[in-house]
Amino acid sequence: MAIELLPAPANPVDRLGLYRQFLPAESDDIDLLDFDVIWSGTLAPHLLDLNPYLSADEREQYFDIYLQNNSVGDALVGLPLTGDIGLLYYRTDLLEKYGFEQPPATWSELEEMAATIQAGERDENAEFWGYVWQGNVYEGLTVNALEWQASMGGDLIVDADGRLVKDDGAAAVLDRAAAWVGEISPPNVTVFQEEDARWMFQNGNAAFMRNWPYAYGLSQAEDSPVRDRFGVTRMPKGDGADASHASVIGGQQIGVSRYSRNPDAAADAARCLTDATAQRRRALADGTPPAIAALYDDADVQARIAAAAQIAESLAEHAVARPAAMTGGHYTEISLVYFIEVNRVLTGEQSGASAVARVGEQVAGWLE
Ligand code: GLC
Repeated sequence: MAIELLPAPANPVDRLGLYRQFLPAESDDIDLLDFDVIWSGTLAPHLLDLNPYLSADEREQYFDIYLQNNSVGDALVGLPLTGDIGLLYYRTDLLEKYGFEQPPATWSELEEMAATIQAGERDENAEFWGYVWQGNVYEGLTVNALEWQASMGGDLIVDADGRLVKDDGAAAVLDRAAAWVGEISPPNVTVFQEEDARWMFQNGNAAFMRNWPYAYGLSQAEDSPVRDRFGVTRMPKGDGADASHASVIGGQQIGVSRYSRNPDAAADAARCLTDATAQRRRALADGTPPAIAALYDDADVQARIAAAAQIAESLAEHAVARPAAMTGGHYTEISLVYFIEVNRVLTGEQSGASAVARVGEQVAGWLE
């Protein structure tokens, strides 16, 4: 079987725009499409249910969080090509220098360590900050803010059934993150995306960073100023007894168009492109984290992906999906409202309570 690759924009939003153009026209030009983890609900009306094409063993090889994220109603509309998950990066040398034996387990510990290290390092480095993350007005802020909410006790925007959550805890969480800005995080963290955070961390100007696994290999490059001076751990949790670590998943999925003239062959290709052999090959070739749990026990994968143990733990135990599957195709609009309102809290334009109220008013119409 030969698969012809068609050009598509790399930017996920532009890519979705392209899919939204040709899928409603029921074009049979395309059999397979790959998509960001957040488009499962939006693309679902145009995608085949892949459940009938998988054995129970094949299905269960993927981390459960991807099966949840890609299940819209009873239909499994995509299979995960890659794993992606939020990690906390920390400077091992600076923890040691300031007498911290472990990386932070809670947000309170992170706040304290970041402040201490920052105060000490400022004498030598005026550019130094405690904690860098993604606060720009874009999808990455939805990711960061949902991690705060899920780990500190405030609930997500919508619950598992797609109903709006009205949670007072969320307001306090947003106010707490806003207080980091200009204190332990640079004032311009409100315009940071992944690469801005990585740039600061990799150049030795930050003690802690929230980022995806891709930043590990780059920060470990031969010429990286922080080479061999950092580690990764799970994202911190809140202080409450019921708080738990929470990391948002990302990554690319592959689905089969309902309008394909070759649905069986296309489903077979989706299965092969995401099976253990294919994901192992990609992991060894370029360090792409697999979405298959068993591959993290493979010695060659462990040797190639230095953060493998933490990625596997976070995907298995701390993973949270954005509300893509149960928002009836409205995820994009809901996330847009959410990250705009959250950013306005970070920049001091409104309180957390105001943001929660405004998000609620704007998204209610899209939910049940
Ligand atoms: C990464 C993730 C993707 C997420 C994006 C946000 O690319 O894989 O799921 O939407 O970051 O910036």
